[in-house]
Amino acid sequence: MEVMQEFSRRRFMEGSFAALVARFGFVPAGSPGALEPPAKHPTMRNVPFERKDRVRVGIIGTGGRGRSLLGDFVGVPEVDVVALCDINPSALRAAQEQLKKAGRPVAAEYGKSDRDFENLNARGDVDLVIVATPWDWHVPMALHAMNSGKHVGVEVPAATTLADCWKLVDTSERTRRHCVILENCCYGANEMMVLNMCQQGVFGEITHGEAAYIHDLRGLLFADEGEGLWRRKPHQTRNANLYPTHGLGPVAQYMGVHRGDRFASIVSMSSAERSLTAFGKKHLKADDPKRNEKYVCGDMNTSIIRTEQGRTIMLQHDVVTPRPYSRHNLVAGTEGTFADYPARIYLDSMGDDRWHDVKEFRERYEHPLWKRNGDFARKYSGHGGMDFIMCFRLIECFRQGIAPDMDVYDAAAWSAPYPLSEASVRAGGAVQKFPDFTRGNWK
Ligand SMILES: NC(=O)c1ccc[n+]([C@@H]2O[C@H](COP(=O)([O-])OP(=O)(O)OC[C@H]3O[C@@H](n4cnc5c(N)ncnc54)[C@H](O)[C@@H]3O)[C@@H](O)[C@H]2O)c1
Repeated sequence: MEVMQEFSRRRFMEGSFAALVARFGFVPAGSPGALEPPAKHPTMRNVPFERKDRVRVGIIGTGGRGRSLLGDFVGVPEVDVVALCDINPSALRAAQEQLKKAGRPVAAEYGKSDRDFENLNARGDVDLVIVATPWDWHVPMALHAMNSGKHVGVEVPAATTLADCWKLVDTSERTRRHCVILENCCYGANEMMVLNMCQQGVFGEITHGEAAYIHDLRGLLFADEGEGLWRRKPHQTRNANLYPTHGLGPVAQYMGVHRGDRFASIVSMSSAERSLTAFGKKHLKADDPKRNEKYVCGDMNTSIIRTEQGRTIMLQHDVVTPRPYSRHNLVAGTEGTFADYPARIYLDSMGDDRWHDVKEFRERYEHPLWKRNGDFARKYSGHGGMDFIMCFRLIECFRQGIAPDMDVYDAAAWSAPYPLSEASVRAGGAVQKFPDFTRGNWK
């Protein structure tokens, strides 16, 4: 009897699942079989910031990245950095010195305990909280900021589990606060020019992209300061693409992901782990306890994402192989291809079957943000100026009272390859479905 009941229930579920697919082409959020929990609040897609002439910023985490962002934000005259938080007093001191050097008032300080950020979030004079702490802290800090009524900008990856991606989405929707992923690579001069070209149809219909984070971080990973204190840990526990967003964010924007397309599925495989172990053996002292660490994350992780509109993206992560830096940063369509490292373009209309330097396209297709701010950004800011352009643009969105370029759905979808690649690798390269974090609003 019990078996019959279970059989009927399953048949019913399968029947309704098939009917939903037939009717909608996908399973709507909240339906049986959907990967998405039902929405409880309206979307944050295209929700404008309340207009502000000046933006008051609090920064949690004033290590390497936090201080770099601090420098970029004080480069925007309409920003007041009113509060800083770090549990490391010397990081906090260095940030205050930076403010003084920039001719800005020193900020209120937090960092007496690892939850003191809650007191920064509780201040009444902060509009935007920036989270630039180790990965495990991103989600608790961002959730607390939004629950305290603050918009939040979160460093990358925004989250490292699917459950945490959903917490960011649901909290942003419930609190009506934006959770902006601080994906600076989307604001590179090449990336913005290519985005402009994609949006103008220069490459025709986009079919394929390639994205990566290939950066030899072995020295930094074994350092006794900064990221060396926390970034080796995931290499010991998770075999995955640990840092997907730098390459993926720009390619997602080229493809209009969440603006007519979305990531639908992913497959992933990892190579063996060798380079971190080899580097440790070669460079660590005989009595260094780090020599006993065991790493499970393969040197090279390669994934392929398929989008709802049938596009593919090859996505790689390798931070341990001796090899020059690359984010691949490639986009291909029916009329041509852009490929980076070095940056080059080929269009069908050229007909000469050879790459052309991007410089040839700069005058015609330079993005307006770079036309306006490029000279200053290049001289002033890190990573070729992209960091300043990102911060400037985020503040401009506040000042114009418009929605941010990158919202909580981008934060979730660009970060999700971390857990999804891990699941695929664990299952021998099996296809994993992407949740639709927009719950249908990608169209
Ligand atoms: N977008 C980029 O180009 C870029 C570049 C570097 C780092 N990052 C990201 O920025 C984040 C920070 O990296 P980093 O290089 O600055 O690391 P870091 O280790 O130099 O700095 C992290 C800081 O957070 C502080 N911290 C830790 N726990 C805290 C807590 N509970 N409360 C307050 N402060 C706390 C630490 O004391 C440290 O000063 C990471 O997510 C990293 O991936 C992004």
